[in-house]
Amino acid sequence: MCGIVGYIGRRDAYPIIIKGLQRLEYRGYDSAGIALYDGNDIKLSKTKGKVSDLKERLENEITTDGTLGIGHTRWATHGVPNDVNSHPHYSNSGDLVIIHNGIIENYDSLRKELINRGYTFKSDTDTEVLVNLIEDVKKNENVKLGKAVQIALNQVIGAYAIAVFDKNKPNEIVVARLGSPLAIGVGDDEFFIASDASPFIEFTKNAIYLEDEEMAIVRRGKTVKVRKIKNDDLVDPYIQELQLNLEQIEKGGYDHFMLKEIYEQPEAIQDTFRGRLLSNEAMVKLAGVEDNMKKFLAADRIIVVACGTSWHAGLVSEYIFEDLARIPVEVEYASEFRYRNPVITERDIIIAISQSGETADTLAAIKLAKSRGAFVFGVCNVVGSSIAREADAGAYTHAGPEIGVASTKAFTTQITVLTLMALRLARAKGTISSSEFRHHLIELETIPNKVEVALKSDAYVETIADIYKDATNFLYLGRGYNFPVALEGALKLKEISYIHAEGYPAAEMKHGPIALIDEQMPVVVIATKKGHYEKVVSNIQEIKSRKGKIIGIVTEGDVSVKELADHVIEVPETIECLTPLLTTIPLQLLSYHIAVMLDKNVDQPRNLAKSVTVE
Ligand code: M6R
Repeated sequence: MCGIVGYIGRRDAYPIIIKGLQRLEYRGYDSAGIALYDGNDIKLSKTKGKVSDLKERLENEITTDGTLGIGHTRWATHGVPNDVNSHPHYSNSGDLVIIHNGIIENYDSLRKELINRGYTFKSDTDTEVLVNLIEDVKKNENVKLGKAVQIALNQVIGAYAIAVFDKNKPNEIVVARLGSPLAIGVGDDEFFIASDASPFIEFTKNAIYLEDEEMAIVRRGKTVKVRKIKNDDLVDPYIQELQLNLEQIEKGGYDHFMLKEIYEQPEAIQDTFRGRLLSNEAMVKLAGVEDNMKKFLAADRIIVVACGTSWHAGLVSEYIFEDLARIPVEVEYASEFRYRNPVITERDIIIAISQSGETADTLAAIKLAKSRGAFVFGVCNVVGSSIAREADAGAYTHAGPEIGVASTKAFTTQITVLTLMALRLARAKGTISSSEFRHHLIELETIPNKVEVALKSDAYVETIADIYKDATNFLYLGRGYNFPVALEGALKLKEISYIHAEGYPAAEMKHGPIALIDEQMPVVVIATKKGHYEKVVSNIQEIKSRKGKIIGIVTEGDVSVKELADHVIEVPETIECLTPLLTTIPLQLLSYHIAVMLDKNVDQPRNLAKSVTVE
């Protein structure tokens, strides 16, 4: 959570930082602030609200001169969102100023110690404690800022990505990381600091990603010095060339990132299987699987750990792995798994699924699994992310940046990677015939085109959205492969329109949820031809006889559901295990249009953030 940006170089820092904050707003958006060094002093402005509120306020409030500055966009953890708790935070002397992403867990005891030593605090944040701790060390030990940061961080328990500077040394910014991402863009006589590379992509393609427990002193016109926080060892920084481009992180004519990302799915899925699905050669090539084939074949079971939408993709994979490769699968909420003292053995394979690769619970779950000897395979979207690095092996989804908080293309590309894995393992284990295998590959190759066709329902879905936008509850039902899709459809609606929605296995309805059904209740039922069709049609009859409003997601040319449902949205036909890649499309569009009609902030829904780097 929280986005941090910094700049030191020869240009004006302000426009770089404000634009960078706008790009990082997906990480948190309850308050924002900037501190600039104008040649004499620090100019600081911060406010509760969005980066646009900060911009409006700041340009009337302070001069925006200066070639050194830091900025922050916040998702509150310690202290409610208000002006005072917003970052940056000054130290008591006013010499140091800091921005921070993460949580200092022992902040309370540190704060008490500092109060005993005469420090005072304006905010309720752990961050203000940290900057004063650094100041205290700097004075007492009579050391430079970099050393003071290092000593202070060795007293801290928790997670952080920080950037701090001293107005008396306005030629350097000190940064450090543990558990929260931090990238340094390396330009020509200039450096950029950010939670991800998006704030600096138009200025430089060269970046250093700090590893956990590393810090760096970024000096104007010099090289970056990276050290280990624990033992002061110098580290040779690896300068990576970024593949990201500007177009990928802009809206490209769409009203919202979410809509853009929904429409990017045909290409994203294609990118996911490019070079991996070789239908002519009847082959699937996934380096991470290939290199560890023995481990996969000897595994007793797969345990999937993930959160939110990624957990739903994990549930789909449970059906695929068991169905095709006959490997037992358990799908775990990472947040529960990590605290449950689970039974894990060296013969378990953990698949950690995460778009951001930074989700704290998922990261902790894989650390636990590794400590007990399990092999960890990461399915991440963000290249070089913490989970991708922590995993023993993995496969990227290659979906491109997903900026809308509601996950869309991450879900379909995760399912694509997991399907490729299941197919490869099924072939290796001989649980699928060569003709079936080939048929699956050919069918998977058609999915991008079929997603294009599914997207054509957009205008019709919008009319359905208009009819049901004022409903206060929604039920989503599906069976088999489409049960997780029902859960995902309900999550999409909840998170961006704030309408209560629940997903259920269609057959479970009679065990309770059926009591909810009356003429006010819209029920979205996934009823594709492949996948217990007749059973689902019976469930639809049950809803109909209780006067529920039925929105059916059906296969092209469907007859039976059409006769019963109030509305049907067609998707192209495919084999059963691939139906989630198509049925999820109208559900994404439905939640999108309802949220737009209700005038909700689609890309930045309240209380949420794109990557959840706190517990
Ligand atoms: O980055 P991750 O995939 O690990 O994120 C997991 C969840 O926080 C995420 O999927 C969340 O549920 C989305 N907002 C859902 O749209």
